[in-house]
Amino acid sequence: MRLLVTGVSGLLGLNLGLVAAAQGHQVTGLSHTRGLQGVPFDLCQVNLLEMETALGVIAQTRPEAIIHCAAIADLNLAEQQPDLARQLNRDAAGELAAAAARWGIPLVHISTDAVFDGVTGGYDEGAPTNPLSVYARTKLEGEQAVREQHPEAIIARVVFFGWSMPGNRSLAEFFFNNLKDGRPVKGFNDTLFCPLYTEDLAEILLEMLNAGLGGLYHVVSPEHLSKYDFGVRIAQRFGFDPGLIEPIRMHTVKRGAPRALNLVLKPDKVEAALGHALPTVDEGIERFYQRWQEAYPQRLHAFAME
Ligand SMILES: NC(=O)c1ccc[n+]([C@@H]2O[C@H](COP(=O)([O-])OP(=O)(O)OC[C@H]3O[C@@H](n4cnc5c(N)ncnc54)[C@H](OP(=O)(O)O)[C@@H]3O)[C@@H](O)[C@H]2O)c1
Repeated sequence: MRLLVTGVSGLLGLNLGLVAAAQGHQVTGLSHTRGLQGVPFDLCQVNLLEMETALGVIAQTRPEAIIHCAAIADLNLAEQQPDLARQLNRDAAGELAAAAARWGIPLVHISTDAVFDGVTGGYDEGAPTNPLSVYARTKLEGEQAVREQHPEAIIARVVFFGWSMPGNRSLAEFFFNNLKDGRPVKGFNDTLFCPLYTEDLAEILLEMLNAGLGGLYHVVSPEHLSKYDFGVRIAQRFGFDPGLIEPIRMHTVKRGAPRALNLVLKPDKVEAALGHALPTVDEGIERFYQRWQEAYPQRLHAFAME
């Protein structure tokens, strides 16, 4: 399939572009400020705030589906620059969805677990949303814009960890980078999440696309844990000292953007649609570890233009 992947220099987009290319898809990846070298797919640098250029790429490459991973995904940057966050996370998402609808092709729009306030947890797709930050609000508005323009689009609320091109984009890399050098870190023991490993998530998104699904899905691990426990499991798998991780509560740390505590989402709908369970956190960590043994982080790093 000819696939257009936005945000292809980012944590999810790069892993997804590589997984899709390895599956034999003909990928065109869109990045913005970062160039990439040596990737096994076509690449274009495009500012999605200048939609005409992006629409030109679509007209030229004639994708059979679009997977939209680009976003202002940095919570603190979104808080500092709400207009920018709204333009990319809401407006550009809506415009891409409108373009996909005009071309009559499927769109996978990546959203976030952060659309919930984290008071109760256990959220299914029908649970009321209540975003706490600019990032979360603009992502929720993006979902609405996509739904209006392209009602059949897949809207996937996700949370994930993995290896990134700069090597410091995910929580798993944060624990890995510090613990391997013996540096003590803190881990929140009162924030719950259900992360998937990026390459697992990429495969599931492609499977959803192939299955012709549409609508809102929680694409997360069926297992949840605290960020502290996640750090401990990373330490254990890599043979680092888990004692270097100090458990702390979130309110004791002064941070920029407000963050939700209990982001336990239920993936039952997507599991039923695909007919199989999504990976557990331990399965994801195992693959994260195996990929490190295979020097995958170095491979990603080598894609970065100096
Ligand atoms: N990270 C998580 O755990 C998490 C959790 C829930 C949901 N999500 C969602 O998952 C998706 C991917 O997140 P991520 O962590 O992979 O993000 P990321 O690593 O921060 O990457 C963001 C991507 O967006 C691109 N981008 C930013 N501004 C752009 C613009 N004006 N025009 C075109 N492209 C632009 C960046 O391009 P350049 O770098 O080339 O400028 C980069 O490729 C996002 O929708 C995010 O909201 C992430």
